[in-house]
Amino acid sequence: CRALPARTNSLVIVLDGPQTPAVPPRKQLVFSFMDTHVIDHPLAAALLTTMRDERTDNPSFRSALRQLTQMLVYEAIRDAPVEEFDVRTPVDTARGVRIAHPPLLVPVLRAGLGMVEKASSMIPQSRVGFVGMARDEQTHQPVPYMESLPDDLAGYPVYVLDPMLATGGSMVHTIELLVQRGADDVTAICVVAAPEGVAALSESGFPVRLVTASIDQGLNENAYIVPGLGDAGDRQFGPR
Ligand code: URA
Repeated sequence: CRALPARTNSLVIVLDGPQTPAVPPRKQLVFSFMDTHVIDHPLAAALLTTMRDERTDNPSFRSALRQLTQMLVYEAIRDAPVEEFDVRTPVDTARGVRIAHPPLLVPVLRAGLGMVEKASSMIPQSRVGFVGMARDEQTHQPVPYMESLPDDLAGYPVYVLDPMLATGGSMVHTIELLVQRGADDVTAICVVAAPEGVAALSESGFPVRLVTASIDQGLNENAYIVPGLGDAGDRQFGPR
C-alpha cells in the first residue's frame, strides 16, 4: 500500500495486493479521500511501535495510547477557530485565546475508552457522548448496543475516538447517528486505519475527516488490520 500525497489535504492510496502472507490477495483498489491527515512525527512513530509490539503489557499499551491520543487530538484541533480575550498577567494585560467551539468527544466503546480521558483533559470544555459497538465475530459487522448522545448536534464539531479503523463499519454507523442529530463537522481520530476503512468513510459521503498515525497494509480474513496491533480492547483491558 502506497500513500501518495496528491495535493493538499488529499491522499491517493494504491492498494496493490498482498503485503504479507497474512493478507488475502485482492484486486487493485484505487481511491481518494479528501481530508485525511496522517501524523508524521518520530515520537508518534515510537509510541505506535510500542503499541504494535506484542510484548507490550496492558498498562504500557494504555499509557502509549494516551500519549498518542494527545498527539492525534493536537493535530485534529490545529485549525479550530479561537475567541480572543484579555488576560491579566502579573505584569500587564495580554491577549489570550480559547477554543471557540469545543468539540463533543465520542469514544466508541470499548476500545475508544482509552482515548477519552486524555482528549477531555486537553479540551476541558468538551462534552462527552458514548456509542457502544460490539463486533459480530462471524460477519465482522458492527453490532450497536448503546448510544448516549446529545439530541442536537447542529453546528457542533464532533471527534469520534476509536483506535482502529478496520472495515469502517463501526465508524460509519457512529457517524450516521451523529448526522441524524444534525452534525456536519465530524473528525474520526484513529491510531491505525486500514485502506478499506478509509474507503468506507470516503464512500459514505458523510462530512468527515480522518486523523490517524498510520494507514496500514489492509485487513486479514478475520477483518483485523495488518500489521495492526491486534485487538485494541484486549490490548488495553485484557481478553474478554
Ligand atoms: N479492531 C481491533 O481492535 N483490531 C483490529 O485489527 C481490527 C478491529
